[in-house]
Amino acid sequence: MSNHVEENSTENVVRKFFNLKEMPHIVKPLDRNQKIHPHILNAIGNTPLVKLSKIPKDEGIKCDMYAKCEFLNPGGSVKDRIAYRMVLDAEEKGILKPGKSVIVEPTSGNTGIGLALASAVRGYRCIIVLPEKMSDEKVNTLIALGAEIIRTPTEAAWNDPTSNLMVAHRLSKEIPDAVLLDQYNNPCNPLAHYDGTAEEILWSLDDDVDMVVMGAGTSGTVSGVGHKIKERCPKCIVVGVDPYGSILAQPEDLNKTDVQIYEVEGIGYDFLPASLDRGVIDKWIKSEDHASLEMARRLIKDEGLLCGGSSGSAMWGAIQAARSLKEGQKCVVLLPDNIRNYMTKFISDQWMEARNFQPLVVKEHLPWWSKPVTENMVQSIKSVSHDSSPSHALATLKESGAPVLSVVNDKGSVIGVFTADNARKRLVNLSGSLAESLEKFTVKKFYKVDLTLKPTLGLVSRMLDIAPHVVVVKTDASTHIETPVGVFTSENLLTSISTESKIMNGS
Ligand SMILES: Cc1ncc(COP(=O)(O)O)c(C=O)c1O
Repeated sequence: MSNHVEENSTENVVRKFFNLKEMPHIVKPLDRNQKIHPHILNAIGNTPLVKLSKIPKDEGIKCDMYAKCEFLNPGGSVKDRIAYRMVLDAEEKGILKPGKSVIVEPTSGNTGIGLALASAVRGYRCIIVLPEKMSDEKVNTLIALGAEIIRTPTEAAWNDPTSNLMVAHRLSKEIPDAVLLDQYNNPCNPLAHYDGTAEEILWSLDDDVDMVVMGAGTSGTVSGVGHKIKERCPKCIVVGVDPYGSILAQPEDLNKTDVQIYEVEGIGYDFLPASLDRGVIDKWIKSEDHASLEMARRLIKDEGLLCGGSSGSAMWGAIQAARSLKEGQKCVVLLPDNIRNYMTKFISDQWMEARNFQPLVVKEHLPWWSKPVTENMVQSIKSVSHDSSPSHALATLKESGAPVLSVVNDKGSVIGVFTADNARKRLVNLSGSLAESLEKFTVKKFYKVDLTLKPTLGLVSRMLDIAPHVVVVKTDASTHIETPVGVFTSENLLTSISTESKIMNGS
């Protein structure tokens, strides 16, 4: 009995999973200069290590800092490595059969792109299940690669039946010949980094590294790199970066935040994946959206590195951690994915301003720009209860004459909006039906301003650059109930601008 408990103890389970040294290795020649590749998957890995110049200097960092440019992988991210490795392993074991098997995977997008890339080259049908938070750019890339997409609610906990994990597991049982490679429980995830990413970093720096900093998602990167680095360069400090709102850095930071949902994609989880070995991580740094996205934009602007948001988290974490290093020491920060994934997100000034991640642009020549939004400026909207039917919502929308309806919970607080455009997309593109619940037709991510925060017409104008309408709400300070007030379209804004201009001109 005691043996059985020991066999299944957490320590033993981690030890068995991370028996990386004993697993079959695939170590590529450490050279990018192969004249011709037999196929694009062969070009995965051997990414450049680039010395950073401006940001470390501006931040007063004394050590040398280097960026491992994983965003230059063929699919645009570090996850190409694990996707290809899991496919090769499953093919070798006879689990995946080219032309027959169907790959089904829950991912935050990049593993999906890696798997869709491998599927395109090797001839698999590929179904990717990803949360709604993930960018449309990732979805469009997946579709272009021939993958089928299923979106799931961002707020669903990992063990909720509607989460991307649970939906993928269910589909893998229902679909004939489906194979779930399962990056969270597949040792090939850390192994790809043990054999590839870490070998390359050590090769580039002649086995002399003082610190490596990586964001943690499935944590395959930080754990796999950490294992190899601990073997070959024991002095090296391994740093994991985990966003507030995630529990990977537990228990130290578990209860220090009320963040529920964060914008940076690809890092952080609400469960501990098997692919995480906390034992090789010396230090955790908690990151937040604002500093991460600001840093990602600096990496692009100051260093010319066309990376994504989690690269900003890793770099911001690296700056904090590298302050303890001296001149001549070496710190490597890993930049996981590519700007392509975020062209309509943090790359856009309007997107950053709408979320208060950067100050609203000042347009002094427009006298109305800083005028506050008032209740009488907005077009009124109707509300429907979350338990109404989509048909009822559609009829109410038509009757209201406004472009949106607010969907409210039992307390009358706005939980989303209903629009004809979104309803059409659900019926046409996702084979939805009006017999489904209204929840399926409710848009949870929409642009809004809160009158209690005194938004300006300038802010509404910036939001209308990237959205067809802006919902206006009023939040009660004690109950936090968000009462719907109305909506702004470009037409309403033009009316407000013209009224304000007349008032200012005294006409
Ligand atoms: C953009 C991005 N950054 C970081 C990570 C974290 O990598 P890992 O899952 O190896 O922890 C991921 C993983 O999907 C990612 O997509």
